[in-house]
Amino acid sequence: MSERIKMILDCDTGHDDAIALMLAASNPKIDLLGVTVVAGNQVLKKTLVNTLNVCQRLGLDVPVYSGMPLPMVREQVVARTIHGETGLDGPVFGELHLKPQPQNAVDYLIETFRNSDGDITLVPTGPLTNVAVALRMAPDIAPKIKRIVLMGGAYGIGNITPAAEFNIYADPEAASVVFRSGIPITMMGLDLTNQTICTMDIIERMEAIGNEAGKLFGEIMRFTYVTQKKYNDLDGGPVHDVTCVAWLIDPSIFYTKDMFVEVDIEHGPSYGRTVCDYIGNTGKTPNATVGTGLDLPRFWDMLEASLRSMK
Ligand code: BDR
Ligand code: CA
Repeated sequence: MSERIKMILDCDTGHDDAIALMLAASNPKIDLLGVTVVAGNQVLKKTLVNTLNVCQRLGLDVPVYSGMPLPMVREQVVARTIHGETGLDGPVFGELHLKPQPQNAVDYLIETFRNSDGDITLVPTGPLTNVAVALRMAPDIAPKIKRIVLMGGAYGIGNITPAAEFNIYADPEAASVVFRSGIPITMMGLDLTNQTICTMDIIERMEAIGNEAGKLFGEIMRFTYVTQKKYNDLDGGPVHDVTCVAWLIDPSIFYTKDMFVEVDIEHGPSYGRTVCDYIGNTGKTPNATVGTGLDLPRFWDMLEASLRSMK
């Protein structure tokens, strides 16, 4: 097999973050170096416990680092309706013994990228606070980051406000730092990720694998199946964050379009919007490869094959 793709997952676990973690930890093409945790779907204490719970239950051997508890500038927002009081309501976990690493996530990111050969991809699936603080503390790491493949934003409509998607809205100033960083970016926004709705047939298919990973997938996605119907009238929970890892594994599954993207940090109705130059009328050089569509059957096949290889 060709060399594995080195990646760090920066997440706010979260239902779809948990599935993204499962895919990254199990797919043979990925070398998951570390997991950094940020506040987002819930407060940091909870997103950290959720991440550790998933790792412990599935026996994932990957170091977990705790990062930024609050956004850079704005007041904190969490996604309680979709993800519940714990941020990962639904699954029941045993007593947690797994511990995070003593090093802070931001320090880990700085140290790891500084000492790298520029061959590590960063995959943020939550608010971009950890990433932006690392870039502000150590601007020299920017050229060492091979690519950022992030879940966030939309060129169409938002999900937390009419204009904004949750991850970007939860820390627009951080997102602005990232989109202005010059680092190659792949943006998996709602336009793409809302196409990955996990309907009941998919839940049953993953459960039928019969291992712990399939079981956990079911416990996780059955919860958002209900909340996404109730709050967003969807036929199941989109597995937004999973698309970032899937794109890294096999970009041929996805359709993308290069665009110039900037984040609105004015405190008006579009605060936190990713303003995407879809038709190119700013004349500005694109700074992001933006997801527009995907081959859904191949996407679920990839996920199923990876979950099958787990315990
Ligand atoms: C994003 O926000 C969170 O609720 C999900 O985990 C995903 O990262 C979707 O807007
Ligand atoms: Ca997330």
